[in-house]
Amino acid sequence: MSETWNPTVGVIGAGTMGAGIAQVAAHAGLDVVLIDQAEDFVARGVRTITANLDRQVTKQSLTGAERDAILERISRGTTYERLAGCDVVVEAVNERIETKAGVFRAVAEVVGDDAVIASNTSSISITALAALVPQPERVAGMHFFNPVPVLKLVEVVRGLQTSDDTFGRIRTLAERMGKTPVDVADAPGFVANRVLMPMINEAIFCASEGVATYDAIDQVMKLGMAHPMGPLALADLIGLDVCLDIMQTLHRDLGEDKYRPAPLLRRLVAAGRLGRKSGEGFYRYDG
Ligand code: CAA
Repeated sequence: MSETWNPTVGVIGAGTMGAGIAQVAAHAGLDVVLIDQAEDFVARGVRTITANLDRQVTKQSLTGAERDAILERISRGTTYERLAGCDVVVEAVNERIETKAGVFRAVAEVVGDDAVIASNTSSISITALAALVPQPERVAGMHFFNPVPVLKLVEVVRGLQTSDDTFGRIRTLAERMGKTPVDVADAPGFVANRVLMPMINEAIFCASEGVATYDAIDQVMKLGMAHPMGPLALADLIGLDVCLDIMQTLHRDLGEDKYRPAPLLRRLVAAGRLGRKSGEGFYRYDG
């Protein structure tokens, strides 16, 4: 494998993360196959990518011809068979182990023996996912950050079975996509969410105990800690359902009370207030 490795990248899930991964891979000149379970979902992902690229054309950081070429490199589909020729497949479906398990089994049946299978999971065990496929040594974690086109980090996660070759390929792909890979071991929440989510959860406890308003909590962390956005606004960006799933994984797998999800987080998710994607979370979003 050389510096000029140009793998065809399959992306499963055309939501916020999957669309971002597909966009960045295609922008880096790689051929991409983007699939989701329904055409509507794929179309929505492509609309997000197109809007991001259009913004870059308006800002003149991309030409119209470059935008068109990036979009042409992304082929779309709704069946696993479309991934048959991919060298690397990155799974970016929802954060439920049973959903990911089904995806992993299906991908292993259609890709070639030497294809690498990666998960963008933010907290689920790579070792457990790898155990679901016939050649677990070709599975690794490739954890991107939202917004994917902007944030440089990729946590590269080594499961117990991950081979050096697989790990090296995922690192190389991250660099090929203009990202900075950071190696982490397979532990609940890896590093990013082990540190970030308890902070967000604690901010939610502060809000529900009346320590300060949502806005005041966010101001404290922005102005006092130089965070680009406050923890409650960030939770809305990530998705409150995703935050709850991750806290539940930390709580279950690390077994400590300090990871218990804040009841207000549970209530907001139960009410369908999932953050930006549903139009309301801690804050309201119009349009
Ligand atoms: N998609 C693509 N590009 C985007 C974008 C998006 N959704 N949102 C913003 N951008 C781009 C803008 O176009 C702009 O680009 P230029 O510099 O070329 O003009 C740039 O990002 C800055 O955007 P803005 O000026 O609009 O706003 P900002 O400076 O306030 O930055 C932000 C917005 C990038 C979201 C910034 O507030 C930020 O980095 N916030 C923290 C985000 C964060 O912590 N993410 C990690 C979440 S955890 C996670 O993802 C993993 C997990 O497992 C849960």
